[in-house]
Amino acid sequence: MDDTNQRRDRREFLKAAAAGGALAGAESLFPGVAFGQSAKIRVGLMLPYTGTYTQLGVAITNGFKLAVQEKGGKLAGREVEYFTVDDESNPAKAPENINRLIQRDKVDVVVGTVHSGVLLGMVKVARETGTLVICPNAGAGAATGPLCAPNIFRTSFSNWQTTYPLGKVLKDKGHKTAVFLTWKYAAGEEMLQGFRDGFTKQGGKLVKELFLPFPQVEFQPLLTEIASIKPDAVVCFFAGGGAAKFLKDYAAAGLKGKLPLYGSGFLTDGVLEAVGNAAAGVETTLHYGDGIETARNKEFRLEYAKAFKAQPDVYAVQGFDAGQLLAAGVQAVKGDIGNREGMIKAMASARINSPRGAWTMSKAHNPVQDFYLRKVIGKENKVVGIAHKALADPATGCKMA
Ligand code: PHB
Repeated sequence: MDDTNQRRDRREFLKAAAAGGALAGAESLFPGVAFGQSAKIRVGLMLPYTGTYTQLGVAITNGFKLAVQEKGGKLAGREVEYFTVDDESNPAKAPENINRLIQRDKVDVVVGTVHSGVLLGMVKVARETGTLVICPNAGAGAATGPLCAPNIFRTSFSNWQTTYPLGKVLKDKGHKTAVFLTWKYAAGEEMLQGFRDGFTKQGGKLVKELFLPFPQVEFQPLLTEIASIKPDAVVCFFAGGGAAKFLKDYAAAGLKGKLPLYGSGFLTDGVLEAVGNAAAGVETTLHYGDGIETARNKEFRLEYAKAFKAQPDVYAVQGFDAGQLLAAGVQAVKGDIGNREGMIKAMASARINSPRGAWTMSKAHNPVQDFYLRKVIGKENKVVGIAHKALADPATGCKMA
């Protein structure tokens, strides 16, 4: 009998036993079996595997699996079984997709997702059902703000965190005016807000905000408009396939080298192979960068490259840390994931030994972490400084139950 059947049989048995009032004696019928602790841990991966964020979903999946492998393929002695849903970065399908994992696949935890709008749909269901969710990317502020909950964790960032440090970076370069350009949805709007907060605090002036619908890549009219405004700097959020196209279009429009380009580091992470020289010299802020000289990072990069024949990026790190966070929780309760309170407590107080540098959870369950200044040199996002030490998201509106 495989583990799935065993688990189902045990569940059926428990139901029958409970109905017959015989539950107290159940364990003695299976000597040596600790109930609920021998079955596989069922992990739902709800991520984009099609569309502009495909590579991000793949890197997160790889990173998560690498963390489990690092523990010998088991967490507290229990094997891990994966259930996968392609969420297509489509917010409208988010409730249906997460419910498939919860109801059909009976997962113990959902790891997802990349797109902020999809995350907000997941959070709604997680709050209603109590499902444990670990978000390995999407930065929607509400998930660790007004919609925060004990069962919702994030191992990545809040959107605000990634651009707030850019304000000082631009000021230090002597830039006084900037234009911000992004896709119009929660991630872009919140990164715009983070930049606005940071830049205006430094006396900078945001002279124009420009948007296009996600995931469109018709950048030309916007680039023409930027050229006519002539700001001191251009700042943006794009990621994945869209970011690669933007970098190429920016260079082709003749703006590269004329109007300095900045962004949250998603602009240049995971795309450098695809864009050739178009990204050279672009400076960004992010909680990870290539060439972090720690034993942990070097080991991670080596293992990842060996396992997946690809270089890791920030998304791989966030997936890896989602695996590490789950491991911390499962180990704390010795595999008894029915002990939700024990698990959540351990996850909330975990110190994650990450390739990005060690980090801890804020009270709202979002990483408190350093943000690096990075510069594209060759095929790397080289860390050239620390843009903000131990930055926490303000978590406005979070009241943890
Ligand atoms: C988001 O939607 O929150 C998001 C997506 C891709 C990124 C960063 C944030 O690279």
